[in-house]
Amino acid sequence: MNLRSGRLKGKMTADAASFTSSFEFDKRIFNADIQCNIAHTTMLKEQSIIPAVDADKIIKSLKELESEGINALVFDSSVEDIHMALENYVTSKIGEVAGFMHTGKSRNDQVATDLRLILKEEIEEIENDILNFIEIILKIASNHIKTVMVGYTHLQHAQPTTFAHHLMAYANEIKRDFERIVDAKKRVDICPLGAAAMTGTGFPINRDRTAELLGFSSVMENSMDAVSSRDFMAETVFALAMLASNLSKISEEMIIWSSYEFRLIEISDEYSSTSSIMPQKKNPDVAEISRSKTAVLYGELMTILTILKALPHSYNRDLQEVTPHLWNAVDTTRSMLNITCNMLSTMSFNVDRGMELAMANFSTATELADLMVSEKNLPFRIAHQIVGRTVTEAINQGIRPENIDTKFLDKIAVEINGSPLGIRAELVEKALDPYEIIKSRDVKGGPSPKAVKEAILSLEDFVKGVRK
Ligand code: ARG
Repeated sequence: MNLRSGRLKGKMTADAASFTSSFEFDKRIFNADIQCNIAHTTMLKEQSIIPAVDADKIIKSLKELESEGINALVFDSSVEDIHMALENYVTSKIGEVAGFMHTGKSRNDQVATDLRLILKEEIEEIENDILNFIEIILKIASNHIKTVMVGYTHLQHAQPTTFAHHLMAYANEIKRDFERIVDAKKRVDICPLGAAAMTGTGFPINRDRTAELLGFSSVMENSMDAVSSRDFMAETVFALAMLASNLSKISEEMIIWSSYEFRLIEISDEYSSTSSIMPQKKNPDVAEISRSKTAVLYGELMTILTILKALPHSYNRDLQEVTPHLWNAVDTTRSMLNITCNMLSTMSFNVDRGMELAMANFSTATELADLMVSEKNLPFRIAHQIVGRTVTEAINQGIRPENIDTKFLDKIAVEINGSPLGIRAELVEKALDPYEIIKSRDVKGGPSPKAVKEAILSLEDFVKGVRK
């Protein structure tokens, strides 16, 4: 059946046909389109809008197509998209009565329905991938609750923490990505079917019934909105772009931490490359590619938003152009997520080096200042000044952080504040010990082994709760 023969003369030129065809990326909605047609035809039959015998023939033929697969469709340049190819298939099997299946339906509401159906499935798979990833992070974190490292601000040594605490930052970021995508799914899960071209139909269709048959939670309230909106795609791609951004931070840290200067982690050989000229090289190419793919997500988001900008209501063919960007965003994110998960679970952390760096460069200074406040009731600003000067003096004199003693401190305290501190030596010693500091950071969300264990438990509960 040629869609054009009524209104138009002849065929589109080959270049116009291929320029406007969506067939390549329609493949992804093949199954959804079958389900959509089955649900619609079932409803038409139930509402006695079309003859029951014809409805049965249509549904039988659609089910046959489902088992034969997409290759059973004939696609030539006279077929605009998968919806027409599918109708042509049914027509070739049961004759012209196949045309009943398009009663009270348009490709406009059909494509929107198909896209939502498949995107919902994709989101559910991504949700599952994210939960697996969180579980792996929690497992690694459990093994590194006492693994000391230095935390950074401005990429300069800041304060001692643990590798587990750092990993828990990843886990919590990714948890929010999970929640965002679950939330976006609510707005994917609304059924546009029955909006037809844009104003619904005069046939007494039952929109709630088709929504129910297709497993949607509700129907879209306005028929114009139903066929013209793709905000569900933009929102999903934003959630994915944010996830990609968080994944890129993990990649970045794997890249710098595996450098000779840091030597904090070793990426496994399976996730490393070498150089064609420099035989000594072990390069973090996988992490680099993942880091760069974040840009693909941002690009897809911007492309989608730009296509949607200032489109008049309701359906415009421009909307078709959004679809491949959605799928590319979905596929790219999934590959990033899986590769990052595998890379992280196979790398190793250099425990000695973690401690070495935590000891090397005055990451204990905040605790020393806090000690002056808690022991000697000094205003923090003065304590800050004394410790700042202490660090400068220690660096100038080549004194290691752990060798700062009460005498050294008192001399500087006199210079700055007019009197010695007189803090007990063992307290100073403790304040200069990274692990003691970590233990004392016991507030909710802090790095103490106890706080991190609680954080792990709470995220484990979260994962269990959402998996149900
Ligand atoms: N391939 C189209 C799309 O993805 C399907 C809807 C076509 N509708 C139309 N009126 N040409 O948006």
